[in-house]
Amino acid sequence: MCNTNTEIQDQKKYIEKIKEINKTQKPKYAILTMGCQLNENDSEKLCGMIEQMGYTKTENPEEANLNIFNTCCVRENAEDKLFGKLGELKKIKEQKGTIIAIGGCMMQEKHITTKIKQSYPFVDIIFGTHTLHRFPKNLYKVLKENQKQEDILDIDGKIYEGLPIKRESNLKASVTIMNGCNNFCSYCIVPYVRGRERSREPKQIIQEIQELAKEGYKEITLLGQNVNSYLKVEKEKNKPYEQYKGINSFATLLQEISKIQGIERIRFISPHPKDFTDDVIEAIAKNEKICKLIHLPLQSGSTETLKAMNRKYTKEDYLNLVQKMKTKIPNLKLSTDIIVGFPGETEKDFLETLDVVKKVGFEQVYMFIYSRRKGTPGDKMENQIPEATKHERFDRLKQLVENEIQQNNQKYIGTTQKILVEGKSKTNEKMLTGRTENNKIVNFEGNDELIGKLIEIKITSEHMWYLKGQIK
Ligand code: 5AD
Ligand code: SF4
Repeated sequence: MCNTNTEIQDQKKYIEKIKEINKTQKPKYAILTMGCQLNENDSEKLCGMIEQMGYTKTENPEEANLNIFNTCCVRENAEDKLFGKLGELKKIKEQKGTIIAIGGCMMQEKHITTKIKQSYPFVDIIFGTHTLHRFPKNLYKVLKENQKQEDILDIDGKIYEGLPIKRESNLKASVTIMNGCNNFCSYCIVPYVRGRERSREPKQIIQEIQELAKEGYKEITLLGQNVNSYLKVEKEKNKPYEQYKGINSFATLLQEISKIQGIERIRFISPHPKDFTDDVIEAIAKNEKICKLIHLPLQSGSTETLKAMNRKYTKEDYLNLVQKMKTKIPNLKLSTDIIVGFPGETEKDFLETLDVVKKVGFEQVYMFIYSRRKGTPGDKMENQIPEATKHERFDRLKQLVENEIQQNNQKYIGTTQKILVEGKSKTNEKMLTGRTENNKIVNFEGNDELIGKLIEIKITSEHMWYLKGQIK
C-alpha cells in the first residue's frame, strides 16, 4: 500500500504542474469510452485527474486540446472503430493541434500498439490498463518535453487508491471491487488484457461507499470481472489483506455495504455461476437493499459448448443454481449474457441454449455473436462457425428473447413499482425517467423535484424497452 501511496502522491505533483501550465488558458478535453462499466469507471478516474489539471469537458473532439480514447477489445469491430477514430483525430490534430491519448484494454494487445506506432505516429500517449494512474506524468512529458509516451505494463497492475474521480451521475455510482480474471473462458480476451484477479481492500471499498452515501448517492453497482470470487485468490494464496469489519468474502462485503445508511440499492456485475455460493444467495435474500435482479452469465445452454468454452458448469448445474436461487430469493429476476456461434456449436447445442432461455424466463438477455479474439484458445479452434449460421442463430435467439420480454412486460401492467427517479426523459422533456429494482426503464409525468427520490409508480403500458406509468 505504501508504494502505491507514494506513486499517487507523485502523480498529484504532476497534476499540480499541469494545472499551473493551464492557468492562463481554458483548455478542453474530450473522451470516448468503449466497452463495459469497468472501462467507464476507469474513464471516470481519468476525467477526475484531467479536470483537476484545469481541463473542462467537451463533447466535441474538434474543440478539445486533449482527445482521449479509452478502448475495449472484448468483441469484433473494436479495431475498425479504433482506426476509424484515429483517422478522424489525425485531421483534428493537423488543423488544430490536439494531444491524442489512446488507452484501455486494446492497448494491452501487442499487435495493436505495434500498428499504431507504425501507421499512426501522430498519437502522443499510449497507455494500458495497469498504468492509468500515471496519466498525469505522461501528459506532462508531452506538454513540457514534446515527447511521445508509451506506458504499458504486461504484469498485473497494483490497485491504486486515492485517485480523483469525476462520476457521470450524482445518484448512481460504480465502485470497482476487484480487477482482472483468472477464469480463462476460451473465447475471452479479458484475462490477457486485465491480468490476474486481485481484490481491493475491504476498508477502501466501504469508505468509498460511505463517502458516496454522504454525497447523496442512492445506488451502488459493484464492479469486477468475477465479483463473487472477491478475496478468493487472496485467501487461497495467503496474500495478506487488512482485516475490516469481518469482511472476508463477497457475501460479507455485501452485508456490510447493506448497512451503509443512505444507500438504497445495491447491484453487482458480473458474478460467475460456478462461484455463486450459498452465503451469497443468503446475503441477497436477507438484504432488502440488494436488487433482486441478478445478472448470471449463461454464455451457452449446451453442456458440450460450455465445456469447450471452459465455463466449468453444465446446463444442469446452471438450471439447478437458478432453481435454488429462485427458491431462496422471493421475486428473483435474472438477466444474462449469451454468445452464439462459438466454435463447434451445432444446431443441437444452439437448441439447448434456446431451451434454457425458455426455462429460466430472463428479464433481460445480452446477446453476442462469437467473435474471434487473437491469442485466445477459441481463435485457434478449427471448427469455426460460418458467419451466415452465426447470424441466423443470433436472429432466432433475438426473436425468442423479444417475445419473452414482451410477454414478461405485460406482467408489469397494473402493478406498483418503486422507481429511483433519474432525471428528465431524453426523448420527451415533459416526462421523467427512472428505473425499477429490476432495472426496467419507466417514464412518467412528474415534477423535477422528484429527481433523486424513490417513489411509487403504477405501470400503465409497456413499450418493449421501457414501461410507462403514473405517480400513485
Ligand atoms: N465474442 C463474443 N462475445 C464475447 N463476450 C466475451 N468475449 C466474447 C467474444 N470473443 C461476451 C460474453 C461476456 C460479455 C461481457 O461479452 O458474453 O459475458
Ligand atoms: Fe472473460 Fe470468462 Fe473472465 Fe468473464 S469470467 S472476464 S467471460 S474469462
